[in-house]
Amino acid sequence: MNEIWQALSAHHEAVRDRSILSLFDDAARAERFTARAGEMVFDWSKTNIDPQARGMLVALAEASGVAAKRQAMFTGETINETEGRAVLHTALRDLDGTVIVGGKNVVAGIKATLERMEAFAADVREGRFAGQGGAITDVVNIGIGGSDLGPAMATLALAPYHNGPRVHYVSNVDGAHIADTLRGLDPATTLVIVASKTFTTIETMTNAQTARDWMARVVKNPGAQFAAVSTAAEKTAAFGIDPSRVFGFEDWVGGRYSLWGPIGLALMLAVGPVRFREFLAGGHAMDVHFCEAGFDENLPVLLALVGIWHNQICGFATRAVLPYDQRLSRLPAYLQQLEMESNGKRVAMDGSDLAIHSGPVVWGEPGTNGQHAFYQLIHQGTRVVPCEFLVARHGHEPELSHQHLLLVSNCLAQAEALLRGRSLDEARAIMAAKGLVGDELDRQARHRVFPGNRPSTVLAYPKLTPFVLGQIVVLYEHRVFVEGVILGINSYDQWGVELGKELALALQPVLEGKATAAGKDGSTQALVEYLRS
Ligand code: F6P
Repeated sequence: MNEIWQALSAHHEAVRDRSILSLFDDAARAERFTARAGEMVFDWSKTNIDPQARGMLVALAEASGVAAKRQAMFTGETINETEGRAVLHTALRDLDGTVIVGGKNVVAGIKATLERMEAFAADVREGRFAGQGGAITDVVNIGIGGSDLGPAMATLALAPYHNGPRVHYVSNVDGAHIADTLRGLDPATTLVIVASKTFTTIETMTNAQTARDWMARVVKNPGAQFAAVSTAAEKTAAFGIDPSRVFGFEDWVGGRYSLWGPIGLALMLAVGPVRFREFLAGGHAMDVHFCEAGFDENLPVLLALVGIWHNQICGFATRAVLPYDQRLSRLPAYLQQLEMESNGKRVAMDGSDLAIHSGPVVWGEPGTNGQHAFYQLIHQGTRVVPCEFLVARHGHEPELSHQHLLLVSNCLAQAEALLRGRSLDEARAIMAAKGLVGDELDRQARHRVFPGNRPSTVLAYPKLTPFVLGQIVVLYEHRVFVEGVILGINSYDQWGVELGKELALALQPVLEGKATAAGKDGSTQALVEYLRS
């Protein structure tokens, strides 16, 4: 394994300054470096990965044991070793499958819960389940992290398919979030879903209490308009939610991987059970592709290998996710949790220090908005930011197809500009044509040089349907898995989130004036003083 890492680094040293454009001297490069899953296309030809690097990267995945680990994950082995759990979110979308955990096929339970969700969603959408003031008009999902980002991202992504009540998401403990969301809603026709795997998360439980108080001002029995999504049945009962409206899942579904099960309830209420099943089917189709396609044409594996090349080999510390699809505007935030909570680790599975960097910083915004904000740095800054574009062949607005065409041309133009750049000679010619001469021509031209040679990939898909969204989400889930296996880390725990939570709990009484800040560092003491006064 070490030899492969070393060979990759040596190869990178040898080719780092080569022009990516020169790789297109191979007329078949675009075709060779484009992989397909169904109608989805992943073009990774605009990277500095040549056939030799590609061979080494695939060898790295093979030597890291990706295939064996994949088998272990899908068959329910305890691959989350630090929490002693299986990692089986894949089972939530494998509705015809058999997945044995502890000697029992868990798919039957998954299907039973899905059917209960569907029946409840149908009752709400068709008015059989009503609020105390009539049919449900609004649903408020209260959750945070994995209990918010997935369904919130997907609900926005599938806006053209909404035909149920309006769905809102509240996550932040900042009272502004729930206050702004509830303002204008009618408590008598609102359903609140408390989505929390553990049912202990302070933000969620605080917001749930605030929502219940808000409802109690108008409605006699607010608990009757609450549903819960959780693994903790006794806690949901203690909160006063009837078990018939509690949808459970098992501890082998990680928070950031939970969108496929009951955490997707709010999404199901928005788009309906049929569309939700299409979403599951798209996810499952990508699972099948991941399990069956050879590494060399396997989208999740290739995405991971491009990620490893850019981050661990080339040393590019961040990657930008740039959907040219406004409805995917929450995808970067969703991926921040998926990728950074999963692969932002500092020790290997055996507890030893990592000898290489772990996952990159992931960030982004939809195009074309980003073009008018941070693309300047991407084109002309001193650091290289690998860009990952996403774009649909068709939008959902046929009457606005001219706008979609403009969107697509911007996406392709950005990828092209990053690749080609603009040389000093070209910039000089432009400035000379404007009449500049001498030193001023040189000075002005230098500001207009684009180094180019900046890598990007494009994920293109027919249209952002529920099925395609399912494929996209699973593509990224498995990318994270493959990168994690190659790095030798546990992608499925999140100990890094805990320390801040503990300290916040300790500071609460200090801010309430019930405890002293003595023993805290000088900065914390001074800020407590300021914020309390
Ligand atoms: O941020 C840590 C975390 O545990 C996430 O993994 C999870 O998605 C989120 O908190 C919410 O947790 P819960 O669903 O238990 O409220």
